[in-house]
Amino acid sequence: MLVLGIESSCDETALALVDDTGIRASVISSQADIHALFGGVVPELASREHARLIGPLLDSLLEKADLGPDPWKKVDYIAVTRGPGLMGSLLVGVAFAKGLAMAHDIPLIGVDHLQGHLLAAELENDIAWPALGVLISGGHTHLYRMDGPVDMTVLGKTMDDAAGEACDKFAKAAGLPYPGGALLDALGRRGKADPHLFPRPYTHNDNLDFSFSGLKTAGALWLSQHPEAHFPAGDTPAKERLHLASQKLCDAAASYLLAIAETLTIKAGRAMERFSPGSIVVAGGVAANSVVREEFSRLAQKRGIPLIIPRLSLCGDNAVMIAKAGWHMAAAGRVHDLSLSAIPRGQVIPQDWKSC
Ligand code: KG4
Ligand code: ZN
Repeated sequence: MLVLGIESSCDETALALVDDTGIRASVISSQADIHALFGGVVPELASREHARLIGPLLDSLLEKADLGPDPWKKVDYIAVTRGPGLMGSLLVGVAFAKGLAMAHDIPLIGVDHLQGHLLAAELENDIAWPALGVLISGGHTHLYRMDGPVDMTVLGKTMDDAAGEACDKFAKAAGLPYPGGALLDALGRRGKADPHLFPRPYTHNDNLDFSFSGLKTAGALWLSQHPEAHFPAGDTPAKERLHLASQKLCDAAASYLLAIAETLTIKAGRAMERFSPGSIVVAGGVAANSVVREEFSRLAQKRGIPLIIPRLSLCGDNAVMIAKAGWHMAAAGRVHDLSLSAIPRGQVIPQDWKSC
């Protein structure tokens, strides 16, 4: 079974082909540099860029995959991210997928972007079910009970900011460009964490939800009280000037990331008291973070179960994960028709598939 995946929920336009054995081909174009000029994703610009790039990217995907003279005869399903995400961006991908599905008479599948992130881990690893799913990205922080690739239940989620957003906001307030998560990680690796500098927010309760807004405020307050620690301004890209960061900023970055990672593992540990997972799956852009990886590996070791994290290139947004999630939906007999709707951030993804 060959599945075309299409991703356009935020600021990456991506397409991929996945078959029963794994990735056939994958292309991705990031708009991060454009949005960096504005300090965050500008929705109108994002949808325009998706519309500009999606056609040429499909051409280059088909060229890479080398499917022969009539490639569309080989594609069994078209899977597209239907949400959550930016409405305008989602609509570009969904409309494009519908056009292809109609033109080539191929069944369409709408994929939940967050479940796609978790299934990226399944491409190169065997997940022991049920698994505890930890989805940490720029827009979402969700804990899942994963009973199978198409059977996931949300156990808890953030009530305000996501873990990635908390990283990006601290990085921005410190003088780093958007998206600052990976740069903050690089600074943190050069620092020594003080476990008492920042709080583990919203952990003194017995639920599985998160709230990172208090941590974000604590970070902003610390930065306003330590202007001498800010990252020096300059014209050369921040990546090339990371060595100019003060030790104080590196230590604060390490402390801030530890606060995020420990908050995540406290709640993940609590979730494991409610059911006994066979493995922990950590996915989404923030799963690339070194402190998060370390803390989750400690937790998994303590519980004696495997930790599964997608390789770095599959942690952030990509279309391989969407194709893989579509593959599983098709295998379970779930498809959509051309009435498939895009679902913006904050709304529940409906279970409105049809059986095939
Ligand atoms: O999953 P993703 O690519 O897009 C969304 O669906 O949101 O996640 C992007 C988020 C951004 O907030 C980015 O700063 C963060 O992931 N991120 C990191 C790292 N790499 C990416 N945060 C901390 N450490 C990293 N190494
Ligand atoms: Zn994502």
